[in-house]
Amino acid sequence: MKALYFEHFGASEVLQYGELPQPEIGENDVLVKVEYIGLNFADIYRRRGDYHIEKHTPYINGYEGAGVIEAIGANVTNQQVGETVLFVDVPFANAEYVAVPSEQAIRLPAGINSKLAASIGLQGMTADFLAHDLGKNTPGEKAFITGISGGVGQVLSQMLVADGIEVYGSASSTEKQALALSHGVKQVFPSRENSWVETVEGQFSTAYDGVGSTIQQSLDLIKHRGKVVFFGMAGGDPVKIDPVALMSESKSILTGDLWDYLTSYEERKIRSERLFSYFAKGQIEISEPTIFPLSEGKQAHEFLETGKSIGKVLLKP
Ligand SMILES: NC(=O)c1ccc[n+]([C@@H]2O[C@H](COP(=O)([O-])OP(=O)(O)OC[C@H]3O[C@@H](n4cnc5c(N)ncnc54)[C@H](OP(=O)(O)O)[C@@H]3O)[C@@H](O)[C@H]2O)c1
Repeated sequence: MKALYFEHFGASEVLQYGELPQPEIGENDVLVKVEYIGLNFADIYRRRGDYHIEKHTPYINGYEGAGVIEAIGANVTNQQVGETVLFVDVPFANAEYVAVPSEQAIRLPAGINSKLAASIGLQGMTADFLAHDLGKNTPGEKAFITGISGGVGQVLSQMLVADGIEVYGSASSTEKQALALSHGVKQVFPSRENSWVETVEGQFSTAYDGVGSTIQQSLDLIKHRGKVVFFGMAGGDPVKIDPVALMSESKSILTGDLWDYLTSYEERKIRSERLFSYFAKGQIEISEPTIFPLSEGKQAHEFLETGKSIGKVLLKP
């Protein structure tokens, strides 16, 4: 099968595209012929050697994809051959075929096709745990989202709006700012300058920060007893934070990793159904994904890494 892989950590040049053996499935796995693969910032961190990865040489990147089940292991009862499934936490996904543990395969409801599923799966389930397990905002509260028109930001902002939260955020280009406003966001500030910060300091119950380098700004934006939900560093590593300074203003930082919120078949089912329900009710719309052939993975990494993308970047085997 064809796959996108690397043998050494480094810049996008380390990525290679070529023939590798098709995976063999175990008795609890399903074999998925992948239709769309989701590219994520974590894939960039892994390629650079900055993130946990499974031992494997050569290393096939990627954890998210959607496609059709071609074979099932002897013990599999939850899925059938021919079903379309999504997976968001299965290694070696940048390939034509992926061996997916049955409990990690998520069935798609009518109305969610493989392209949409691969576009919203990982970022959408991230938005779900950020909003419902960490942020836990109540209707009428004010929340701020850095990089609000990124993949997680687009889903999270609309989820919070649908939940009755007043949402504000930051984005770099006027196109990205307009997109957020079209999703019911109250106000969007320019993300690459900070002259506006002092005008809204201390006003938000929660700041959701996946940009990382903005963590001090996020702490300034929240009110006393407020919280920053820190979930990534797309813009660079956060500065060190002094807990004593936080205590003096009763501010908190919460963090989370999706993998700690997807620990069973049941948990994946409940969370994916809750995510899909926002789409079924027309409460979340996302911009068209940018699709690169898997053979052009290097260009896709560069596109995501430079912050040019609006919404999801997909790879197509
Ligand atoms: N904790 C978890 O479980 C989990 C799961 C999934 C993703 N994440 C994290 O969530 C964050 C967002 O992920 P995503 O998939 O939504 O990514 P994305 O679509 O690329 O969005 C990231 C946004 O960050 C902003 N940004 C600010 N400075 C940047 C810079 N120097 N380079 C690139 N982007 C920059 C960009 O917005 P502007 O251009 O508008 O400023 C961009 O739209 C990432 O840090 C990712 O690692 C965490």
